[in-house]
Amino acid sequence: MKVLLIGGTGQLGRCLQDRRPDGWELLAPGSVDLNICDQGAVESYVGRIQPQLIINAAAYNAVDEAERNPAAAMALNADGPRHLAQAAQKAGARLVHISTDYVFDGAASQPYSEDAPTNPINAYGKSKRAGELAVLQSLPQTIVLRTSWLYSEYGANFVKTMLRLAAAGKPIRVVNDQVGAPTYAGDLAQAIIQLLRNPDAPGGVYHYTGATALSWYGFARHIFQAAGLTPELLPITTSEYIVAATSTATAASPAIAARPGYSVLSYEKIARCGIQPKPLHASLDSMVKKILNLRS
Ligand SMILES: NC(=O)c1ccc[n+]([C@@H]2O[C@H](COP(=O)([O-])OP(=O)(O)OC[C@H]3O[C@@H](n4cnc5c(N)ncnc54)[C@H](OP(=O)(O)O)[C@@H]3O)[C@@H](O)[C@H]2O)c1
Repeated sequence: MKVLLIGGTGQLGRCLQDRRPDGWELLAPGSVDLNICDQGAVESYVGRIQPQLIINAAAYNAVDEAERNPAAAMALNADGPRHLAQAAQKAGARLVHISTDYVFDGAASQPYSEDAPTNPINAYGKSKRAGELAVLQSLPQTIVLRTSWLYSEYGANFVKTMLRLAAAGKPIRVVNDQVGAPTYAGDLAQAIIQLLRNPDAPGGVYHYTGATALSWYGFARHIFQAAGLTPELLPITTSEYIVAATSTATAASPAIAARPGYSVLSYEKIARCGIQPKPLHASLDSMVKKILNLRS
């Protein structure tokens, strides 16, 4: 099967490439080779290679930066996916599009179901929600897979930041009032592959996250436990974080985006397709060891 992977250099993209099933002829152009914001380029690329499947793992993920540049976030997170959906429709290809827990406002106290009303509270979330609507309108059988708090051995993420801060030897202050579910990008990649093996999985919205919900502070504790490190770790509130960040901000710093206080996603729908999310330690421990071994 000819598969076009967009965002192949990102965390999820690289994990997908590592797990590429036999039988996938995978093309993964970088953004310099195929900029999905350019509708003509997408049309001609997809028209030329005629993929049977397109996976869109590309995104404008800089949540704070998006407050200052919402048009750039909208171009990559909404226009780009729409171009891909329209091109997929013409080529007769399936489309898998990745979205986020940040489409919700975080006011809930129970995990959000796939059909819970969305209400994004920052520019990034608004652009990702616009992307969901764009792909589902252009190609209703698209699989929109929402995930949260991605980490992996690749790129920049919270796990790597925590390990770097611990190495610096200073006290580490981490927000304790935002709750979500960390998701190992390798597990998400595997879930996508498994879902695609089911030709009957209907289009629409699915959720896939790790099975453990906690705060960023709780996540940091697990990371240090897995790494065998004991830095001074202090829980703070989001308000305290904003005060500290704004006091050190420069004119060039992006505004700090509002973030949902509770963005846990329920995953019963994907579990009914035989895909079971994993508890945090099952993936985190080995990944942390992998990162530490790479460093030593
Ligand atoms: N990271 C998280 O915590 C998180 C949480 C929830 C949901 N998600 C979603 O999960 C998905 C994967 O995220 P990730 O963390 O793996 O992403 P990532 O590491 O930030 O990678 C982003 C990718 O987007 C590509 N890209 C950027 N501009 C592009 C353009 N104009 N045209 C084509 N490709 C472009 C980049 O390619 P180049 O390197 O070639 O520029 C890169 O491969 C995204 O949909 C994201 O919204 C992420």
